[in-house]
Parts: sequence; C-alpha cells; structure tokens
Amino acid sequence: MDGGKDNVDGTGGGMLDGWKRSGLSNVNSHCSLAEMDGYDMSKLRTKSKLNSERQRSYDERSLSELTSGLSKCLEGYEYAYSPGRASAYSPGSCEWNSFEPHPIFVDAWEALRRCLVNFRGQPVGTIAACDHASEEVLNYDQVFVRDFVPSAMAFLMNGEPDIVKNFLLKTLQLQGWEKKVDRFKLGEGAMPASFKVLHDPVRKTDTIAADFGESAIGRVAPVDSGFWWIILLRAYTKSTGDLSLAETPDCQRGMKLILTLCLSEGFDTFPTLLCADGCSMIDRRMGIYGYPIEIQALFFMALRSALVMLKHDDEGRDFIERIVRRLHALSFHMRSYFWLDFQQLNDIYRYKTEEYSHTAVNKFNVIPDSIPDWLFDFMPGRGGYFVGNVSPARMDFRWFALGNCVAILSSLATPDQASAIMDLLEARWDELVGEMPIKICYPALDGHEWRIVTGCDPKNTRWSYHNGGSWPVLLWLLTAACIKIGRPQIARRAIDIAESRLLKDSWPEYYDGKLGRYIGKQARKYQTWSIAGYLVAKMMLEDPSTLGMISLEEDKLMKPIIRRSSSWTC
Ligand code: GLC
Repeated sequence: MDGGKDNVDGTGGGMLDGWKRSGLSNVNSHCSLAEMDGYDMSKLRTKSKLNSERQRSYDERSLSELTSGLSKCLEGYEYAYSPGRASAYSPGSCEWNSFEPHPIFVDAWEALRRCLVNFRGQPVGTIAACDHASEEVLNYDQVFVRDFVPSAMAFLMNGEPDIVKNFLLKTLQLQGWEKKVDRFKLGEGAMPASFKVLHDPVRKTDTIAADFGESAIGRVAPVDSGFWWIILLRAYTKSTGDLSLAETPDCQRGMKLILTLCLSEGFDTFPTLLCADGCSMIDRRMGIYGYPIEIQALFFMALRSALVMLKHDDEGRDFIERIVRRLHALSFHMRSYFWLDFQQLNDIYRYKTEEYSHTAVNKFNVIPDSIPDWLFDFMPGRGGYFVGNVSPARMDFRWFALGNCVAILSSLATPDQASAIMDLLEARWDELVGEMPIKICYPALDGHEWRIVTGCDPKNTRWSYHNGGSWPVLLWLLTAACIKIGRPQIARRAIDIAESRLLKDSWPEYYDGKLGRYIGKQARKYQTWSIAGYLVAKMMLEDPSTLGMISLEEDKLMKPIIRRSSSWTC
C-alpha cells in the first residue's frame, strides 16, 4: 500500500502554532464529556495556554440570540434543542481550555483550505477531492452539496461562517435555475448535486455550471441535496446565532420549494419518501431504490430543521401544519416497520403470509424465506438498527451507517433505539468498523446478487466503494451520534483507528475489504470530506456543545411542537 506522506513531525511550539493557525482557535468547551466517560483529561489539557480566548459558547450565543425575532415563538423549542441541555450532559461546569492535537490535525486543516473554491473572489465551497496525482478527474473538481456539509461544519466550528453563508446563497441561486433532463423538467425545488466554478483567465470572469442529475452517472437527481441544504441552514443559524439569513424571503422560499417536492400528496400509502436508486451518497445502482433509510432519516431531520426556521405567516403556517402531520406519521412508520432487533427478527421469522385486512400482523407481506442467512448470526441478543428499506414484500435487511447515525441525531430513533444502535455497533465492531471507520453498508453484495442488484457494476464489487466499503467521512456522523447518546468512548476508539492511517494514506475517499484494510481500488486521495469528517469528529469530541448544530432532541420537542403548532401566533 502506498504510504503517502509521513506523519507531520510536530511537537511542542511548532505544532501547536500550526494548530492555532489552522483551526480551533476559538472553539469553546463545556466538558461534560469528561465527566461522563472518564476521559483522559490530562491528555486534553495542553501544556501551553492555547485557545484561552473564548467567545461565548456557540450554545450560549444561539440561546440568547434565539430569544429575539423569529425565535421568540420558538423559545421553548430551541431550548429543548440546546446541546448543553441534552440529557446526556450536564451543562458545562468544568473548564478545559484546549487539547493537544494529534499531528495530523494541523495537516488536515491545511489540506482542507487547499480545497477551497472561490467565486468572484469569495469562497463558496470546497471541491470534492484535491488529488493531483489522479488522472481521472471526472467530477471530483466540483463542489458537491453533500460533500460540503462536513467542511461547512468544520468552518462553523472554527468561527468561519462566511463561506457557509456564501455556499447557502450560491446553491439557493442555483435552485432557481430551470432544470431539465432531455425534454423533462425537474421540480422547482431541486437542489444541485454539485456545481463547478469556471474561471476565464482572459476575460477575468467566473461562471458556474451546475449538475442536477442531468450529467450525473445514471442521470439521478440528488434527493439528499435539498435536505442537506436545510440541515446546513439550521446548523449555520445555531452556530452563529444569526437568524437573519434563514429569515430572508429567499431562504424561506428555498425551503418551501424543497418541502413542496417532498410533502406533495399522491398515490403514496406510506409517509416515507419514494426514491430512485442512486439518489443520495450512494449515487450508483445499489438496490436502494424504494424507501432508503438514508433518505428517510435525512427527510425527517430536514423537516424538523425547517420547522424551527419557517416563519409563521399564512403560507408558513400551512407548511408547518403539513410538516407536523408528516413527522408524526413518519416517526411512527419508521420506528415500527424499519426497526429490527432480535425480537423483531424472530417475529418476522415466524410471520404468516398472505394476511388480508386491518388485522394483518405481517402488513407488508414479507416472506420469511427472504431473510438472508447472514442476518441470523449478525443480530446480537442486545442491539438493533433501522433496516435499509421497507416496501411491499421487500425488506432490505442491510445495515447502513449514514441512515442509522442520522436517525439518532434527528431523534427519529427513540432513546432505546439509539442505545440499541450503539450496542449493535459495539457487538459487531469488527464487521462494521474493523480497521477503518466505518462501513457504508453491511454486508456486501456478491456473486449473482451483485450482478442482479448493481447491474454488474465494476466499481461496486464486494467490499468496495458503496458495496461494503469503509468511508472515513462517516466518522463525523458517528462521533456526533456517540456523543449524543452519551457514549463518546466509542467515537474515541474509532477516531484513534482512523488517525493511525488517514494522513499516512493521504486521506483516501474509501477503503476496501471486509475489515477496511486496503485503500479503495479507485479511491481518490486528498478527498475533502474524508479530511473534513475527521476534523469535525475531532473537534466535536473536544467540544461536545457543538453537537447542537447537527442534533435535535426528542420528547421535549415532539410533543410540545405538536401541541403548540396550532396555537403559535407570532
Ligand atoms: C462519489 C460518492 C458521492 C460523492 C461524490 C463526490 O460519487 O458516491 O457520495 O458525493 O463521489 O465525492
């Protein structure tokens, strides 16, 4: 395996200076984490007095600023969301000002900055990969909406929100474009998968080309982009306390256009969102058509995020009511039918089929013989997860990382389900984490099944790429989920594993193999979201109060929202 760069040699002042320069210089800490899990505090306290300049914590900021304007009517709601008040922590009582960064932390910040893209002099995003050695650029020189999210989180956590704001506004403008695949027009609300800035050195002008699916391999529109956009707008608002952006007519309209696409009524009998294969992070045919968990979890999180940002004018109220109704149905459906644990598996194993009428237990007519063999051994006595997909006579029993982490973060998972997801991760550590966190899905499709389901995709061979490959970018979502449910030690273990290889291997896009030991067959190096994902994981573990940017609390929220929605008057 190609060793890439050596670890940055850095101890003492040199490294610490670099770190200060490259990031975290104004991140704050409430260190309830340390109290929770016997964290090695001595390791985190630096010898130097780094990072001692503190702004108000992001949490404090958002709380105080959210008590004016739009937030007035959401006060109780936002309060329930505040990370410092999440049940897993007691708000910051202890002081630890900084931590000693791993040498690769500095390198990561520098690498991330090298990926910045400017439009007319302003940074508007980060390109997918800065792999100059790769002959095949394809579209990795573009700014992908989903790829930019961890970059955005890193910049927000580092007190650099402008780039995030520029990105949100730029993509909003692109949403306004007319989108066509051949002669067919896409819905107005569709957000691009990616865009590219074209610099004309002669005329000294910058222009933008965007892809809404009309250039993408397989011509699939990215259903996740719009959801990530809404989620990021909330993260920006929470992080900066700047409500004015979300309140602008343009942002309100952008949100409503996205919501119109996914709240429309039709022939659906389920509250989940029906999708084509390849419409999200897994952007090639992988048998995720139907109701993929990744999209359902992002849908849920985006709905909840929009709910706190929509204005309560006539139009806004209508959307709010529709969102509340959908959330209610969606959470019931997901928690009941997508959830799988030992008990549930045993029930399905004993299902009767061909039941008709309202009294049916096996509502979707899942045939027990369709349960794959691997699952019986894989399912621990303690633990569970949301399966990949549920539709008539079809349960995709594969485990998917992103959907399960986002289900925890959005509180789509009940607290018991969230703990069970972590129990399963611990019980099946070798399979799901192995030597590089973390598998995009488990297990891989092989042989005949691979041929039929992927259409013989040579990139998605077993244990490679989307088909059971290991993706470092997912580390940030895993870390956030672990912190949320009070088990940061799991994240620390995963980060330690990633740290031992990522820089040495030059930040690959993905790893291959059952244990994730090999740099992926066609993986790009210097893949931006691998870099940013690591940085965010690291910073979030250092400062758990930042979790609130991406996390939404449960009970306190669902019930009050539903009760209050009819009486909100602001
Ligand atoms: C691959 C991934 C996709 C990502 C893109 C750019 O196509 O499947 O999720 O957005 O690369 O990194």
